[in-house]
Amino acid sequence: MTDVLRTIQNHGLVPVIKLETADAAEPLAETLRDAGLPLAEVTFRTGAAEQSIRRIAAKVPDVLVGAGTILTIDQVKQAVDAGAAFIVTPGFNPRVVEYCVKNRIPITPGINNPTGVESALEFGLTTLKFFPAEASGGVAMLKALSGPYGEVRYIPTGGVNAKNLGQYLSLKNVAAVGGSWMVPADRIAQGEFEQVAQLTRDAVRLVGDIRNTG
Ligand code: 3PG
Repeated sequence: MTDVLRTIQNHGLVPVIKLETADAAEPLAETLRDAGLPLAEVTFRTGAAEQSIRRIAAKVPDVLVGAGTILTIDQVKQAVDAGAAFIVTPGFNPRVVEYCVKNRIPITPGINNPTGVESALEFGLTTLKFFPAEASGGVAMLKALSGPYGEVRYIPTGGVNAKNLGQYLSLKNVAAVGGSWMVPADRIAQGEFEQVAQLTRDAVRLVGDIRNTG
């Protein structure tokens, strides 16, 4: 496991961020850091992603910033050039994965079934995004996958929230959970960072409580 993946596992939480404008990147990153979560997955779902990553990497360097919703090698190059420390993909694209592995770029590809897990294992990857988590069988699917693939750790994302994250984090094969619930795009667009801070603090506290009691 790389240092980046270890850091993600230590936090147990990956905020999945969609920014309409790069102007929000710096205040958002500071908000996350101050709320106890110095980690950001900025998704390439908007044209502001590359510039947002660049600003976070340059201006808020104590936040570990990565790029999400990466679909092509070109996007990997853009993201890494902007300062992304890790790559997240929604599905398993062998070309994107091969490029990242060859260039030693940490990547958590998305999978949601045994075929996906084995495709990742072929590349030596054992920390994977489980996406879309709830729609793909959620906790029951992860329990089923733990039988044949004991060494694999997952980051369930997609439909995970403050209500169900405990069920996921109590599984031995879950490294962290991801989601957008603590970084709602509409709140960010309105500049309501105090609400983001509150949601993030609550999420961080929940993870801490679950890990301390689990
Ligand atoms: C992702 O890209 O990882 C997901 O869209 C996040 O899913 P969520 O919005 O259900 O948390």
